[in-house]
Amino acid sequence: MNKINHIAIIMDGNGRWGKKKGKSRNFGHINGIKVIEKLVKDSIKIKIPIITFYTFSTENWRRPKREISFLFKLIDHYFNKEIDNLVKNNIKINIIGNIKILPQKVRTRLIESMTRTKRCKKILINLAINYGSKDEIINATRILKRKKGNVSIKNFEKNLHT
Ligand code: IPE
Ligand code: MG
Repeated sequence: MNKINHIAIIMDGNGRWGKKKGKSRNFGHINGIKVIEKLVKDSIKIKIPIITFYTFSTENWRRPKREISFLFKLIDHYFNKEIDNLVKNNIKINIIGNIKILPQKVRTRLIESMTRTKRCKKILINLAINYGSKDEIINATRILKRKKGNVSIKNFEKNLHT
């Protein structure tokens, strides 16, 4: 195994890139997917077992509605089109973040993608969508409290999205 266990990537500049090419921000987002695919392929090649992409942050809700809607459509279409290939290539998808408030269709698609790839072993792709680290801590704490579990690192980790 490669010495690097996990890389995390904050996606940025896709919109600006699209504009710079004389096209739209959305053109940049579409091409951003190709970059992700390349990064995943290369990570597999050099045997990095986990890769996390910060895809949509809690701050991104401040964007124009049309852009947000386009981004979620893009995610929905991508998984609809590629899910069989992901399974075939042994790529596991995990979503971290609060997806409860996402459009129902997208949410269902994401859950389906996690379920279908849950036994895949070659690489784990975490997609942070509407993810906030404080949200994750609060969420884990709530579960711990509800289960009346011991406050220990082990119990805490069990309730993290990852
Ligand atoms: C990253 O690119 C993709 C998302 C966060 C959805 P940006 O959308 O942040 O592009 P810029 O930074 O505005 O150019
Ligand atoms: Mg940005």
